[in-house]
Amino acid sequence: MTAQQIFDRLWKGYTTQNPSVQKVYDLFTANGETVENDHIAFRTFDDPRVNIEVLSKLFIKAGYTYAGEYHFEDKHLYARHYEMEGGPRVFISELLSKHFSPFVQQTIKQCVDAIPSELLTSDELIFSGCNWLPVSYEVYEKLRQESEYAAWLYVHGFRANHFTVSVNHLKKFTNLQMVNQLLKDNGFRINDSGGEIKGTPAELLEQSSIRSEMIEVEFAEGVKEIPGCYYEFALRYPDTDGKLYSGFIAKSADKIFESTDLVKK
Ligand code: NI
Repeated sequence: MTAQQIFDRLWKGYTTQNPSVQKVYDLFTANGETVENDHIAFRTFDDPRVNIEVLSKLFIKAGYTYAGEYHFEDKHLYARHYEMEGGPRVFISELLSKHFSPFVQQTIKQCVDAIPSELLTSDELIFSGCNWLPVSYEVYEKLRQESEYAAWLYVHGFRANHFTVSVNHLKKFTNLQMVNQLLKDNGFRINDSGGEIKGTPAELLEQSSIRSEMIEVEFAEGVKEIPGCYYEFALRYPDTDGKLYSGFIAKSADKIFESTDLVKK
């Protein structure tokens, strides 16, 4: 699979499950913009059968190489990012399960145990969603008490968590204030945890995101609405060598993770 084929498939799943992200994309194109991706992000567990190393294989085969690592101590996550000339960055994080209760650890093990073994070694894993159906709302709620990330992953499984519009490639909406205003004017809700814009020009990366839309999920207990995926926006600044900064800022990403949190309206 080429990188383009991978992203096209991921985009299809992402927009089908979250119609609002297609609306955001269409909003930019209707304003004459061409949307380029800054990065695409994935979540996983640190179980060696499905960890970052496993999920990254597909991208490495398509030409990507390792480009950086990040630690999120409060959220108990570890992440790596990968790059390929001409392609969007790939950002994969994993939950450090040992930092959580036996309940969380057992739940994760049961989930991974339920994945068909042929899928674990297949290129299809990253597109496969939740492989441990049916999911329980009670378990979801219990996971949320310890980690919103774990709860999200328990229900949604393997898929793109978010795509990210590269604001550097926009012609009219050239800063995040303008992007956020456009989104708010069109009824989207900006994730304001840690401020609407995370990072500063001095840090060479500014990011914002909309909050995940609420989507219907079929639980063992019945259909419930929970947060799905979100869309992110990133503006990069040149380093002292004149090259655009290409990494990520852990303390900004820390707040961006909260875009999938369940918040009161
Ligand atoms: Ni991101």
